[in-house]
This record gives sequence, structure tokens and C-alpha cells, in this order.
Amino acid sequence: MSWVSDYQYTWLQKLALNALQISGHIPHHIAFVMDGNRRFARSKQLDKIEGHSRGFAKLADVLRWCLDMGIREVTTFAFSIENFKRSRDEVEGLFNLARDKFAKLLAEIERLDEHGIRIRVLGNIELLPADLQRLIASAMLRTEHNDKLFLNVAFAYTSRDEITQAVESVLQAEENPDGEDALLPTDINERLLEACLYTRHSPPPDLVFRTSGETRLSDFMMWQIKSSVLYFTQVLWPQITIWNFMAGIIAYQRDRSRIEDFRSEQRLHSAQLAKSSDFYSLRVQKFLHKLDANRRKLLIALASN
Ligand code: FPP
Ligand code: MG
Repeated sequence: MSWVSDYQYTWLQKLALNALQISGHIPHHIAFVMDGNRRFARSKQLDKIEGHSRGFAKLADVLRWCLDMGIREVTTFAFSIENFKRSRDEVEGLFNLARDKFAKLLAEIERLDEHGIRIRVLGNIELLPADLQRLIASAMLRTEHNDKLFLNVAFAYTSRDEITQAVESVLQAEENPDGEDALLPTDINERLLEACLYTRHSPPPDLVFRTSGETRLSDFMMWQIKSSVLYFTQVLWPQITIWNFMAGIIAYQRDRSRIEDFRSEQRLHSAQLAKSSDFYSLRVQKFLHKLDANRRKLLIALASN
């Protein structure tokens, strides 16, 4: 299958993978910033787009490793809204790659079902060409019943845009003060905004893994990663090996205990905030239900365009 490779492990790799599963906590959710595709291409005298294509092939290996390790959720940064500023050729090349991969995904959908993989594209997909919107919406709808591995592809995404969209959703509900779903100003707090993000159904990443030696966060999941372990490696994305991947897991296992107290405090704070505000009121829950329904309606409209 093109999205999850048939990676063949050596016995030593299998042994190491098992040892990691036994020795420590396996992250529930990993977010990858797949950086370094063009530097890789340059170093091999390849075209940029070939670099991105090798990057996608690496993503398929990484998904296989995640599945076999028991990781339940993977988020990957595939196209930032900032990337629209790249040359027309590169942007079009990336869109063609995405068209090809989403079309293949739909053609081999039974294999995704077998693995129970649900695809969610996080981002402002209306910024994309209509045919790509259609493929993305179809992939999301077609896999929505799967629940073993959640694969979130951040495409046309930045955190600033995600937060802006969340605020807009809240404002739209406030605009209609006489409507039954109207929110009250006192309903608006960080718990509500968090529930309006594209990641509203995901726990925050436990580990953020960025390749290519860059130690920036590049406007990626800025809201969600306040207590995630950050792991940076020098290796360029298309060149990462299972050993680099496992080094990231070991770093997470080492650092997790230090941040776990902080994380449980955060969870408690969020739960208290939800309880002390009207987060569980019928009004707010109706609003969130409608938000989901509207997002799904949009996907159905895009898929049939
Ligand atoms: C960053 O490397 C990578 C990207 C901007 C694109 C990543 C996209 C893929 C791997 C394909 C994903 C497609 C789907 C459908 C999931 P860079 O271009 O910034 O390289 P550089 O840092 O060496 O310049
Ligand atoms: Mg880069």
C-alpha cells in the first residue's frame, strides 16, 4: 500500500522495537515535521519534487513503524500556508504529489480499512485547488469509521490560521443571539477555543519529531504542544532510519517522567475550567455538535463538487 509501506525489519530491528515497547511508555500521539526534502534532493542532484516524493515514501515507512509500535495517532506537517510563497512550480509539484497520493489512497481504501486507519486533513482546505479538495474530502469521509490509527495530515495549515478559524466559529455562533445555539460571552474561554480547533477530537501530541537540524516550530500545532516532548535530529527527512525513529522514542521515554506532573496539572486545569464554566451545558454542547455537523456538511459538499 502506498501510504503504509511493507517495511521489512531485520531481526535486530525487531528486537529493538520489542525492547522499547517493554522498557517504557509508548507515545500515544506523535507529530512529525518532515523537513529537509529539498536539501536531500540537492545533495543527490535530484529535482525538488523528487525530494518531496522520497519524503512521502519515508512517511509510509514511518507509518508502518508507528502501526507496529502501537502508536495510535500520527500528525504530519505536509504543507504549510507559508509554503504557498514557494515557486509556482514547487507548489504545483506538491499539489500533484498530493493528488496522486490521495487518489491512490481512495483506490486502495480496503487496505486502510484493514489497518483501521482514519485520515483527517487539518487545515484550511478551501485554499486548495477544487480537485484536491474533492480528493481530500472523499478520503476523510471514506475513512471516518476507522479508529485504530488516526493519521492527521496538516495541509494548508498554520496554527495562527487554525486559531483564527476557531475564533470565527465562535463569533458566528455569537452573531445570532436569538438563535437556539447562541453562545454567551461567558462561554468563551480557552477550553471552548480548544474544542474549535481542527484537532478538536485529538489528544495533544506526546512527542514532536523534527528532522533536518532546524529547531524552529514553524507555526505547527502551537496551541497543542505546550507540554509535548520536542525531539530534533540533524538527519534530513527522506534519510531517517528506524534507528533515528527509535532514538526519538527513547528521548520521549527519558523526558516523559519529567513533564508528566506538568501534564496532569494541565489536564486538571482544563477539566476544572470546563466544569466551572458552562462547557458541559446543553448550549455549548449543541454548539459543538453543530460545529461537527457543519464541518462534515462542508466535506460532503466538497467531495461532490
Ligand atoms: C519540508 O522540506 C517538506 C515539505 C514542505 C513538504 C513535505 C511533503 C511531503 C513529504 C509530501 C506529503 C504529501 C502528502 C500527500 C502527505 P523542505 O521543502 O522545507 O526542504 P528543505 O528544508 O531542505 O528546504
Ligand atoms: Mg525546510
